[in-house]
Amino acid sequence: SLVPMTEFLPRAKKEGFAVGQFNMNNLEFTQGIAAAAKEEKSPFIFGVSEGAMRYMGLEYVVAMAEIAAKESGVPVALHLDHGSSFEVAMKCIQAGFSSVMFDGSHYPYEENIRLTREVVKAAHAVGVSVEGELGTIGGVEDDVEVDEEDAALAKPSEAIRFWEETRVDAMAIAVGTAHGMYKGEPKIRFDIIDEVAKQIDAPIVLHGGSGVPDSAIQESIVRGVGKINVNTESQVACTNKVRELLDSKPEMIDPRKYLGPGRDAIKETVIGKMRLFGSSGKA
Ligand code: G3H
Ligand code: ZN
Repeated sequence: SLVPMTEFLPRAKKEGFAVGQFNMNNLEFTQGIAAAAKEEKSPFIFGVSEGAMRYMGLEYVVAMAEIAAKESGVPVALHLDHGSSFEVAMKCIQAGFSSVMFDGSHYPYEENIRLTREVVKAAHAVGVSVEGELGTIGGVEDDVEVDEEDAALAKPSEAIRFWEETRVDAMAIAVGTAHGMYKGEPKIRFDIIDEVAKQIDAPIVLHGGSGVPDSAIQESIVRGVGKINVNTESQVACTNKVRELLDSKPEMIDPRKYLGPGRDAIKETVIGKMRLFGSSGKA
């Protein structure tokens, strides 16, 4: 069955591993991710963005996640990714989500705290875990000026107070990663992770986990990251496989013939991440 992230995140932080959030985009993602978890005996988080929810439909998302949890036999959290309002978070909870992210990072600091607290209060009352976010996690733009880059990063003192006042179960802070693939290597601010992780109980969440070198991932986990989000890398693996098949076999028309291998590519990607994050065998 679906569980809140509090079922496994405190242990992850204590034992020094991270649990992956793998985004659910369709049936093939759902099955590929669940198959990886079953094989690796790893807990995991299904991340569902508002866009993915519109694409699949809320009822389908919950039903597929429940079956995937049962089928994989590991603890699974069904988590709203980058939730934009109190209302959408409540809608997801009512539909059966076990976890939600409220992303108030575009609001002024005090407003972000106030709105996040409201979500935490309502969610915790029904046993649902919450992730909050501070600082802006950029796009793929590589040649940003240092000044601008610094402005978007989370300030450790603000992150610590944010956690103290909201008591979120997972704390996403901007530390230099970005959504999507990187052109160069991301410069992760391990010092910020360090400073914040020491002062708060909740693990830190690393967004934009795709394309981050393995060594940087490992280092971030040592410093206190306990949840890592990966989406683009699974998408790239799936799409490359499908494109290769469609290019080489123009006569192929049965979607199962190319989506099946696409699903296998997602599974392999997720297995690699679970081993890297140290969550394998922790279910
Ligand atoms: O919230 C989703 C993640 O941060 C995904 O980032 O697509 O760069 O892996 P990614
Ligand atoms: Zn994200």
